[in-house]
Amino acid sequence: AKLKIAVFVGSLRRESFNRKLARAVEKLMPAEFSFDYIRIDHLPPYNQDFDENYPAECMQLKRQIEAADALLFVTPEYNRSIPGVLKNAVDIASRPWGANSFAGKPGAAIGISVGATGTGMAQQHLRNVLLYLDIALMGQPEVYVQNKDGLFDDDGNIGNEGTRKFLQGFADRFVAWVNAHPGRQGVS
Ligand code: FNR
Repeated sequence: AKLKIAVFVGSLRRESFNRKLARAVEKLMPAEFSFDYIRIDHLPPYNQDFDENYPAECMQLKRQIEAADALLFVTPEYNRSIPGVLKNAVDIASRPWGANSFAGKPGAAIGISVGATGTGMAQQHLRNVLLYLDIALMGQPEVYVQNKDGLFDDDGNIGNEGTRKFLQGFADRFVAWVNAHPGRQGVS
């Protein structure tokens, strides 16, 4: 059976570099892995009152995560942190209390920015959150990509050879990490 990776892209922008990065990494993964892109743009702002009766879109998000074998977060940096829409989706999936949909799943975080720090600070914030949520988070290699002209070619592959090799190394390590940390199914 294929191993399903739930992919969170932290940008809603049509031409998002982070979405392009996710798609480029998808092409570097072996055939037994499939990427399930998780929609986050339709979710309501999290409200703790939901916990009494979770909205349908929020339950659907939780079930989609619970059905995945692993998690990949691909995030921009907004004002030295993660975008609010991504944090909102994470907060929704982490609740109601005692029903954290992420718990025990292997995961990794990567990102691309126009700035030279390559989402380093956003990812640092994100790691703090993801570790708290009991995700088995891969520590290395860190992937801080700065966008440059020609980084993505017309077919959506990585046009720069050094970056392509680096991302292939990330994909290979992530595959090994997921295989070494079989995720718990369901919630805990
Ligand atoms: C940014 N950007 C940005 N870049 C960065 O390196 N550090 C930062 O703190 C910020 N802050 C920030 C705030 C807001 C509100 C916006 C809209 C943008 C620039 C950001 O890297 C750039 O817009 C990327 O293109 C966003 O990623 P996507 O949408 O291309 O995936």
